[in-house]
Amino acid sequence: MNRSRSPKFVAFAASLIAAVISSVAVAILTKNFIATGINLLLVFGVCYFIFIVLLKKFIYDKIKLIYRNIYRFKTRSTETYGALDKKESDPIGAVSKEVLGWMKENRKEVNDLKKQENYRREFLGNVSHELKTPIQNIQGYIHTLLDGALNDKKVNERFLSKAAASADRLVELVENLTTIGTLEEGQSIDIQEFDLLKLTKDVVEMVENIANEKSISVVYKKQNPKTLQVHGDRAKIRQVLLNLLVNAVKYGKKEGEITIGFYDMDKVILTEISDDGNGIEEEHLPRLFERFYRTDSGRSRDLGGSGLGLSIVKHIIEAHQQTVNVRSTIGVGSTFGFTLKKG
Ligand SMILES: Nc1ncnc2c1ncn2[C@@H]1O[C@H](COP(=O)(O)OP(=O)(O)OP(=O)(O)O)[C@@H](O)[C@H]1O
Ligand SMILES: [Mg+2]
Repeated sequence: MNRSRSPKFVAFAASLIAAVISSVAVAILTKNFIATGINLLLVFGVCYFIFIVLLKKFIYDKIKLIYRNIYRFKTRSTETYGALDKKESDPIGAVSKEVLGWMKENRKEVNDLKKQENYRREFLGNVSHELKTPIQNIQGYIHTLLDGALNDKKVNERFLSKAAASADRLVELVENLTTIGTLEEGQSIDIQEFDLLKLTKDVVEMVENIANEKSISVVYKKQNPKTLQVHGDRAKIRQVLLNLLVNAVKYGKKEGEITIGFYDMDKVILTEISDDGNGIEEEHLPRLFERFYRTDSGRSRDLGGSGLGLSIVKHIIEAHQQTVNVRSTIGVGSTFGFTLKKG
């Protein structure tokens, strides 16, 4: 508390000045020491009493109103409000503290709202952009077929299968968005104990076809932990492994190698999936797990990506209260890792 701002101090100082001035006058006029002394005490006492009553009443009444309004605004309540303590010796200080706190709170709220607004705008823009391409493709192929290509045996089947591929992409996109939506809503995960190695082998089988197309082989690190029993939502971890393995194939080099390693980290098992593709530039790494984020949109789109896979991975792993990470070296490859509680 700053004493110099309190009404008592102001009243004391003002009364002292008045008492000293009047006493100097009395001393000059009467040259009487006792009269001067009595005057000093009397003037000081009376002035102090008047000043303190006036000051307190004026300040207290005004400040009380401000204080009450701020408090009401802060708590968003019309029924309860903070009362300024009548014994508060520094009402102005108390109010300025309150205003400062209120300002900080408001600034944070405004910043949060701005962030949400930007996020919403960006998200809507991304969604419509991603939906537009497959819809336009489907529309284009169907109209071309209707305009006569349907009877052209050389192209009709090709156009139909291209339209079907775009429809599949549309469905996949909507499914991915729904997955993110439900994960963000905080849908509870179904934790069970399962064999992570077995699940990984199942998923590797699922990507075998696309890996074979690029002559990529999948190998396991030699020194894997003895037991790979973990706690987690099996179906969701399958999705994590699938997204990471599909990426490793998509962005890995032809005739390359994908390495899967499991590491015992005391309470958790760390799973790492490494590829020997082009790698990712360091500037992209912090944003890689954001939805719709692609390092090179042109190339990634050629590969059919919409930038949702890693965002889903992050959401799932965070729903398990575990961590996901990435390290990458240009020209050498990338490694994506995530942890899971041991079973
Ligand atoms: N193993 C990897 N090597 C190099 N780049 C990668 C790798 N994995 C991801 N990326 C980069 O990160 C981006 C985001 O990956 P993410 O899986 O989220 O999206 P996507 O693969 O483009 O699309 P989706 O997974 O939704 O089909 C990719 O577009 C790619 O540029
Ligand atoms: Mg992907």
